[in-house]
Amino acid sequence: MMKNTIGVFDSGVGGLTVLKELRKKLKNKNFVYFGDTARVPYGSRSPSTIVKYSIENAELLLRYDIEILVVACNTSSSYAIPALKSKLKIPVIGVVEPGAETAVKMTRNKKIGVIGTEATIKSGSYPKAIKKIAKDIKVFQKSCPLLVPLIEEGLIEDEITYEVLRRYITPLVSEGIDTLLLGCTHYPLLKKPLKKLFPELILVDSATAVANKVKMFVSPNSGEGSLKILVSDKTEKFEKIARMIMEEEVEVEEVRIEKEISCRL
Ligand code: DGL
Repeated sequence: MMKNTIGVFDSGVGGLTVLKELRKKLKNKNFVYFGDTARVPYGSRSPSTIVKYSIENAELLLRYDIEILVVACNTSSSYAIPALKSKLKIPVIGVVEPGAETAVKMTRNKKIGVIGTEATIKSGSYPKAIKKIAKDIKVFQKSCPLLVPLIEEGLIEDEITYEVLRRYITPLVSEGIDTLLLGCTHYPLLKKPLKKLFPELILVDSATAVANKVKMFVSPNSGEGSLKILVSDKTEKFEKIARMIMEEEVEVEEVRIEKEISCRL
C-alpha cells in the first residue's frame, strides 16, 4: 500500500495557516497536524530545545505512517531541518526557502523586511536564504516576540495588537521596504490589521509556495482526504482559532508527547 498521509507540525495554531493551503491544493490527501500547544512558544527557546522538540514532534507524526513531513514552523525550520533530514527517511519540507523565494519574486525595490520570532531572526535563516537567491537584495529584520502570544490569545483585531504592530513594523517601513515577509506561520492571521496599518506593503507568507513544493513530492490519490488535528494541550481557545483558520468543523484530539513517541527514527 502506498503511503497517503502528510504530516504537519507547528508549536501551536500558526501552522494551520499552512495546512489550510495544503488542504486546498491537495484535496485528496490525508493530513495529520500536530500543534505543540503545551510547549508554545518555541521562538524564545534555545536552539537545542527547538531541535529536541522538533524531533519529538516528527517522532509523534511518524506513528501515522506519513509519506512527507511539513515543518510548518519557521522557528523549527530555521534550526532543525538538518537534524530532521538526517534522522527521517521521508522528505522533509521547511517553510523558510519557499517564503524567501516568494519575497524575492514580489519585491520591486529590492528591500525586504522580515519579521519572525526571536529565534528565527537570530538564526539569520531568511537573510541567508534570500541572499542565496539574489545577492543585491537588502534585508531588514525585526523580531516580534509579543505577536505569537497575542495570536494564541485570539487578540487579532484588538487595539493592543494594532499598537504592537505599529511599534514593530514602523522602523522597517522607515528603511524603505516595499515587501514584508511574514517569517512566522502565526503571522498570516495578522494580515487584516497589517493591511489596515500599512496598505502600501506587499505581504508575503510561505503557505502557497510550501503547498506547491509539497505537491511535487507526494503520491497522487483519489477519494476524499481526511484531517486529524492533534495537540499536546487541548483548550477551547485552540479549537476556536482552528475553526476560524480552517473555515470548517475540526475535531481536536489531545496526545501526550512523552507517551506517544516511539523509536521509529
Ligand atoms: N509559528 C511558529 C513559527 O513559524 C512558532 C511561533 C512560536 O512558537 O514562537 O515560527
